[in-house]
Amino acid sequence: MSVSAPRSQGWSTLSVALHWTIVVLIVVQFVDHEWMVAMWRATRRGTEIDPATETWGWVHIIAGTLVLLAALVRLWDRYSHGRPPYPAEEPTWASWLARITHGLIYAILILMPVTGLIAWFGMIGEFGEFHEIMWNPLLVLVALHVAGALVQQFWFKTNVLKRIFVPGTV
Ligand code: HEM
Ligand code: HEM
Repeated sequence: MSVSAPRSQGWSTLSVALHWTIVVLIVVQFVDHEWMVAMWRATRRGTEIDPATETWGWVHIIAGTLVLLAALVRLWDRYSHGRPPYPAEEPTWASWLARITHGLIYAILILMPVTGLIAWFGMIGEFGEFHEIMWNPLLVLVALHVAGALVQQFWFKTNVLKRIFVPGTV
């Protein structure tokens, strides 16, 4: 199928599974990021790292790397098989707002782990700062995304919620 052709059969099982995997991993990052900052600072200063900080710091690195892989696989699936059409019941401006929000979310889901990996494995402070400044925008975009999904579902009376839970729902 061509890149622009919409998928006629809803989201694939892979795509739905990856959407919710990413959600869980972002919650993990929400919980563990303070430990990562502590591990980063201690490593940069050469001071001792306690075992809990080290464990949670590595959870951050692994979960973040999995976000990168999940986002790339989801994008591959979306571009090779298409995505379900934006619902016809909603106005054009709402579909465009959704497109822009999704685009920015994907960009951050890729740039955050990439900058984090460069900061950590290269011990480059500037990448740590760039990594950090994307966090609040991501939270704002996710809030907008969830609000948008609820508005689509309950105001514009589409079935977007069902299709992100049940693969194959058009
Ligand atoms: C960390 C949290 C989340 C992230 C990063 C995220 C990200 C994304 C992305 C990137 C898409 C794909 C859009 C596309 O490829 O065109 C998507 C679709 C979707 N998400 Fe989320 N999402 C999150 C949480 C949620 C939650 C909590 C809900 C439910 C309330 C939700 C509902 C949806 C729906 C309904 C779609 C499909 C839209 C459609 O079929 O047009 N998302 N999400
Ligand atoms: C989407 C995935 C990721 C998210 C959402 C995320 C989120 C965060 C957050 C919220 C912080 C704390 C910022 C602060 O309050 O100062 C942080 C710090 C950090 N993260 Fe991540 N992270 C992700 C992936 C990664 C990966 C894969 C690495 C690889 C090692 C990494 C390395 C770091 C480092 C080194 C810091 C400390 C940076 C500093 O304090 O300047 N992160 N991350």
